[in-house]
Amino acid sequence: MKTHYLKINPERFDPEQLRPAADILAGGGLVAFPTETVYGLGAVINHEAALHDIFQVKGRPGDNPLILHIWHHRQLSEITETVDPRYQRLIDAFWPGPLTLIFPKKAEISSTVTAGLPTVAVRMPSHPVARELLRLVNRPVAAPSANLSGRPSPTRGEHVREDLDGKIPMIIDAGPCPAGIESTVLLLAEKPYILRPGSVTREMVEEILAEPVEVVTGGETVDRPQAPGMKYRHYAPEAPVTLVEGEEQAVVAAINRMIGETGDENIIVLAFSEHLNCYQDVTVLDLGPRESPWIAAARLYDLLRSCDQMKATRIYVEGLEKTGVGTAVENRLFKAAGGNVIHVS
Ligand code: TXA
Ligand code: MG
Repeated sequence: MKTHYLKINPERFDPEQLRPAADILAGGGLVAFPTETVYGLGAVINHEAALHDIFQVKGRPGDNPLILHIWHHRQLSEITETVDPRYQRLIDAFWPGPLTLIFPKKAEISSTVTAGLPTVAVRMPSHPVARELLRLVNRPVAAPSANLSGRPSPTRGEHVREDLDGKIPMIIDAGPCPAGIESTVLLLAEKPYILRPGSVTREMVEEILAEPVEVVTGGETVDRPQAPGMKYRHYAPEAPVTLVEGEEQAVVAAINRMIGETGDENIIVLAFSEHLNCYQDVTVLDLGPRESPWIAAARLYDLLRSCDQMKATRIYVEGLEKTGVGTAVENRLFKAAGGNVIHVS
């Protein structure tokens, strides 16, 4: 299949430029499109075959449910019967934006979307290109991240091209995604649970709900609700990743010690801006300042993909503080490391 590339300047575009993409979606084709978090691989929900294509193209396990994307509040009534007042407060506070909410699904929502669950995930993206595309289509669009399953999520048009060129009819390239990590996924049971941390942080949700929110990242197998997708090894570059956590100087010392022990491999270190000169004879990539975890979030997947391009044989990463957006970045790094985390002090 030939993939068409549609270049869009997100700051200045005519919505009609997106018409060909909307037509492909409406006709049951797949379109990769930018959101404020990562690029999504979209299919309109009323085309069952298109929904199946998403799983096939990504190599995604069928038991990992999809998120529905909407542009207008009234579309929620196509998806769910009732909106809990607590949800309404979160919607008022964070939509459009990177917060996915889990609702009881209406009977007519395909079980291909929900992987057989009685619930459905919904979000309203804030990216202007995503919003205009969803407005033109005017049906909820199911969209996982537009990467091959297991690869780091795509935050640039080139990343989507690497994974999906020749496999889908169209990729809309609107440059880098501003947030850079996937949306926060939140479930309201008797208590609120964050199933996947993101740039809408626990602290932000707690402020709106005025009650404690638990982050359940899926590493633990407890009988608590989990995002089914979190059980898979995710976001992973080819080389083994070691995440090193602890006091700043101890982390630098520990990584240097491990570099010395591993010898002449092609080692890459992901380090904070303050530490770029702390490592010798290895490639050092910049996570941004330690105090600005949203910069690490925006860069993370691009850096992990660069490690593959540079044929890294081993990757060491300086850990982040687990507060605010740092929690989300740390969560993705934990997954990329396959749980290979070292604590130093
Ligand atoms: O930022 C994002 O959310 C991006 C962009 C494209 O919108 N999308 C995205 O989709 O990250 P995906 O498919 O890569 O991740 C969806 C996550 C998975 O962890 C999945 O298990 C969870 O949402 N999820 C979907 N439906 C769910 C449900 N009914 N209950 C619990 N978790 C659900
Ligand atoms: Mg994904």
